[in-house]
Formats: sequence, structure tokens, C-alpha cells
Amino acid sequence: MQTIQVKDKSFSLFIPEKEILKEVKRIAAQINRDYVGKEPVFLAVLNGSFIFAADLLKEVNLPCEISFVKLASYQGVNTTGKIREVIGLNVDLTERPVIIIEDIVDTGLTMAHMLDVLKQQNPASIDICTLLLKPGKLQVDLDIRYCCMEIPNDFIVGYGLDYDGYGRNTRDIYTLIK
Ligand code: IMP
Repeated sequence: MQTIQVKDKSFSLFIPEKEILKEVKRIAAQINRDYVGKEPVFLAVLNGSFIFAADLLKEVNLPCEISFVKLASYQGVNTTGKIREVIGLNVDLTERPVIIIEDIVDTGLTMAHMLDVLKQQNPASIDICTLLLKPGKLQVDLDIRYCCMEIPNDFIVGYGLDYDGYGRNTRDIYTLIK
């Protein structure tokens, strides 16, 4: 489908599934090479990464674990205001090589926060693996070892990514028609 409607907005076809899967395989092959002899723990950040994580893991041939985490925001009772807690982490990361699976890095603030939280568990290493990166929006210095595709600053949906909760269930990625 060339255009789709998600709630009140129209989106046009941007990255077809075939192209996404080609890039996912390329990155998985890189991880397979880089992590030979290691047993990484993949941490997939919900909700957006669920399709990417599934496709990526099907291509990873290392002994590995996967866990799904979520960043929950709530107002703290102290003066620091908003607290973002990583929930769902049920694997001991001590001395383990960790690979974070993210759908998209935009400002990079989510990943920077995630790194801060995970480092407290003393993992052997942490690498970021993102499906998409908007280099034009990045606000923090992030070392992103694995990135399938770089895209412009426009808003996108599909293949796990949402607009207001909807649009995650498409095979292709679509970009907002302005
Ligand atoms: P960051 O903290 O600004 O890097 O934002 C990362 C999060 O914002 C991602 O995990 C997505 O959930 C969301 N996000 C950023 N850009 C888009 C987009 O174009 N479409 C859908 N979600 C997005």
C-alpha cells in the first residue's frame, strides 16, 4: 500500500519490508561476528522494538538471552520531578555483555538514560543496536555500534513504531505526509 491512514494522519510508504529485512540481516551478521565466543543478553525496549527484536533474534546464531524492558514515567514524590524507571529487567547483568535493542534513536535521551541505569548493574559491556537513527535530531553524544538505517527528521510509523498507539502493525515503514 502506498499510503495509509493512522488515526487523523496520512502516511506514505517510506521503507518497504524487504529493505528493512535486508538491513536487519546485515546487522545480525555483524553481531554474530563481533560476539563470537560471548553469550550476550539482548534487552529489547518495549513497545516499539518488538517486531525488530523478533526479526533480529531469528538471525542471531549465538548462545544468548533476551529480556524485554520498558521505561515507565511517573511523577516522583521528591523535588527531582519526573523519574523514568526501567521495568521488567529480570536478568542479572553483572559481567554480562549487553546489547540494547531499540526501534529508533531520535534525541538520544532515552538511550542515554537507559545506559545510565544499566551501568549501575556492572555489565561487562553495553552496545546499542537500533533499527533507525535520526542523526539530525541527536542531542547527546551516543556511541551507537549497530544501526540498520539513518533517516531524516520526519515522523514515521510501522514495523513496531506507532503514532499515538496505532500503526505498529504494518510490515513496511511509512512517513508522515505533511
Ligand atoms: P528519544 O529519546 O528522543 O531518542 O526518543 C526515542 C523514542 O521516541 C523511541 O523509542 C520512539 O518510541 C519514539 N520516537 C522517536 N521518533 C519517532 C518516530 O518518528 N515515530 C514513532 N516513534 C518515535
